[in-house]
Amino acid sequence: MAFTITPFDAPIGAEVSGIDLRVALEKPIIDQIYQAWLDHIVLIFRDQSLSKDEQVAFANQFGDVGIRATPKDEQNEVTNGYDGSIMLVTNQRDEKGNYIGSLQDGEMWFHHDMSYRPEPHKATLLHALELPSTGGNTKFANQYLAYENIPDGIKNRLHGRKVLQAYNFTMLEKVDLEKGLEGIQHQWQPIFVKHPETGKTALYVSRLISAVIEGLEQEESAEILGRLIDIAEDPAVVYEHIWQPGDLAMWDNRCSTHARTDFPAEETRLLRRCTLEGAPMIGAA
Ligand code: SIN
Repeated sequence: MAFTITPFDAPIGAEVSGIDLRVALEKPIIDQIYQAWLDHIVLIFRDQSLSKDEQVAFANQFGDVGIRATPKDEQNEVTNGYDGSIMLVTNQRDEKGNYIGSLQDGEMWFHHDMSYRPEPHKATLLHALELPSTGGNTKFANQYLAYENIPDGIKNRLHGRKVLQAYNFTMLEKVDLEKGLEGIQHQWQPIFVKHPETGKTALYVSRLISAVIEGLEQEESAEILGRLIDIAEDPAVVYEHIWQPGDLAMWDNRCSTHARTDFPAEETRLLRRCTLEGAPMIGAA
């Protein structure tokens, strides 16, 4: 199979074209794609048309498909016959007016998928099925580069520290720590993580999910977290993906964050998502 991997003219991401993901791939091709994914962090496969089962089968060639963090009885997708691994990222509603999926409308702040879990999933695969006429772009931020851009003084101050990652399934709001963490999924994670496969160091904070830095007074924690988040979202480390129907994005959650731009609520946006299981995050030495 002759396919091409073309890096974007951007700090993160590459396009893969000329490949049909519905068929099982040969081992050398799987290895080539996996290496390209480690190198570029985000791969965008163009012109795909995968059923749910084909998407899962493609994902399974790179790891085990993961179970979602949202409790099953709170998943609109499960109500609609899915098994707890698939998320429909959509504002679409059924005939009764109920949402059929998750992360429905509008903008979403930068985040790592599942950083609030003990074993965050390593990859997310998102397949574009129906798109609005404008907006709903997904921004990807390279957190290896973000780490490099942190001033040495801050790196030294934070070396070996952890950050509380807590998430209440919102899109534009952090958890309110004053209300406590009962019922909120949360996990202390290293601020700087060592990628288990590339060995490189990445910043591991996000606007949506990172709440407070271990061992610092509240004021200093908020000040430093704010600076880290600015560095993590600096346009110099970001690629903004304008989706085309049939795109399948596969990104590495250990060294990137992503966010979504606003889009017209009266237009349908429908993407199908699954993830690959990961392991506990390791702090950088
Ligand atoms: C997500 O955060 O998984 C969804 C991103 C998007 O809707 O573009």
